[in-house]
Amino acid sequence: AISAERSSVSSTCISNVDDMISIIDHLTEIFGAAIAASFPTLNDVPTIISAGTSPNPKFGDYQCNSAMNISKVLSAQGNKMSPRDIAAKITQNLLPSPLIERCEVAGAGFINVFLDKNYGINAITSILRNGVRPVSVQKQRIVVDFSSPNIAKEMHVGHLRSTIIGDSIARLLEYLGHDVLRINHIGDWGTQFGMLIAHLEDRFPDYATVSPPISDLQTFYKESKTRFDSDEDFKKRAYAKVVLLQGGDKDSVKGWQLICDVSRNEFQKIYDRLGVEIVERGESFYQSRMEALVSEFEKKGYLEDDNGRKIMWGVVPGEGIPLTIVKSDGGFTYDSSDMATIKQRLEEEKADWLIYVTDSGQATHFKSIFSCAERAKIIDYSRHRIDHVGFGVVLGEDGKKFKTRSGDTVKLIELLDEGLSRSMAKLKEKKRDDVLLPAELKTAQESVAYGCIKYADLSHNRQNEYVFSFDRMLEDKGNTAIYLLYAYTRIKSIARNCGGDFANNIKKVLETTTVSVTHEKEWKLTKVLLKFPDVITKITKDLCLHHLCEFVYEVSTTFTEFYDVCYCIVKNRQGEITSINGGRVLLAEATAQILGVCFHILGLNPLDKI
Ligand code: ARG
Repeated sequence: AISAERSSVSSTCISNVDDMISIIDHLTEIFGAAIAASFPTLNDVPTIISAGTSPNPKFGDYQCNSAMNISKVLSAQGNKMSPRDIAAKITQNLLPSPLIERCEVAGAGFINVFLDKNYGINAITSILRNGVRPVSVQKQRIVVDFSSPNIAKEMHVGHLRSTIIGDSIARLLEYLGHDVLRINHIGDWGTQFGMLIAHLEDRFPDYATVSPPISDLQTFYKESKTRFDSDEDFKKRAYAKVVLLQGGDKDSVKGWQLICDVSRNEFQKIYDRLGVEIVERGESFYQSRMEALVSEFEKKGYLEDDNGRKIMWGVVPGEGIPLTIVKSDGGFTYDSSDMATIKQRLEEEKADWLIYVTDSGQATHFKSIFSCAERAKIIDYSRHRIDHVGFGVVLGEDGKKFKTRSGDTVKLIELLDEGLSRSMAKLKEKKRDDVLLPAELKTAQESVAYGCIKYADLSHNRQNEYVFSFDRMLEDKGNTAIYLLYAYTRIKSIARNCGGDFANNIKKVLETTTVSVTHEKEWKLTKVLLKFPDVITKITKDLCLHHLCEFVYEVSTTFTEFYDVCYCIVKNRQGEITSINGGRVLLAEATAQILGVCFHILGLNPLDKI
């Protein structure tokens, strides 16, 4: 591949010839070097590289826009030089790169970069030969805390968003080769368990030996809450139970486990359906660690008394909101448990990077947590990266908070069931039940239903509110999962329909056939595919998956443009294949492979038949 030219570039971005290259990173590096060589006395001038956005190919595929800036800096130092002259000088000092065919200085001093077609051929060939290999990164240990519903309470659409976004982030990081720990920080601790256990004792006195039939834990919760609020004696017993539970009393722990199991089984049904893997490590896990943390913080003088509560300020005392580390009754809080998660994950798990996925409403909570952890020297930003990945609320089609018609919270299982029946209706509307075997139809139904729910969520900027609408997510035009799943299946079938080595041994085809990039639309498609590593790099920075959805959509629309005018397979009137344009079939197959990887990251299940 490009190994021969590699030495002349000596770029760290081209570390392994089989890995895909982040074009923007590569250009930033070589243009940065050219700027440094052209203006050795200037430091800190940013190297600005952007992907060309003009549909007009004469403006190039990428641009370096640094000359205008440099001109300003120079003139402030009393040196006049026009941006165009600066751009020309940078271009002269640019080391040759296998990626670049040529550069042109244009307009007010832009440098337009044209990609090299041979590089395009090599990169696509490498995908077909070695698979879609990610840009190489330094392996990190990363904890992704997501989903995290609460025991005895309904898992709601907010938790669904967290599950979908968190799973996709974890998939992306795993794809990049990181060591990812997926944690379900379920709410399984706290004072509410006192009343739940006390109520359990009254309702099912022999719960220790006979499993109590509490399938409807929400109702059970409400009952116990009503008693807690109205019956002083019950309230006292509930408080006593919390103390017993936290002290490890056998019967109380048993009751607590039974209650947790009921919720746990409900949660697992959702994860199984959505194909989400996650390790449960709830708040209770941190009990002993919270105790140790409080005495450590007390010794170090981080805690302040506030009407009997113990509070802690962040790096700047008095700024923001202090954490409540210990309540006035001596109990711990959500704040205490999250201080313990940070410490446990950085110090015991030796994580380099922590990610917390919750609704944006918790942004202040995490801000305070991160600030206090920095003050306590648990976080060291020179070594650690910490992100709170917030997301907006889910709205119904009426623009109000997502609820059932009667105003209750929507049960997730019921939501997924509705997705299944809507997706089946859609498949039948498209007469897929005539073509697919029953088992294939069922696979398609699930893939479309769960795919649509996930994709609708991920394709919106997570920071915004998002309107949940089955009608919209099941539209077969536009940026929806159903459109993309169809597109993928069609593209994937091209090589298969050719038969022979195209269907069974694409690597063999590469020995005799070259990827075709001569037609304008072939080249356009190739250049879109080559953006994949840049998209991935961007997402690792801002953790916004909608960039990937936009990319996937761009790939499929660009593919359609290509396929409309570039015949891959020619058939005669009898439907027999009379000729195959191998170079184009290779391009189609590479497109399918890239889409396949993107679907995997988005948690979509692509289909061979639909
Ligand atoms: N259980 C919490 C909720 O339902 C989410 C927990 C998120 N994770 C965390 N470490 N705070 O809102």
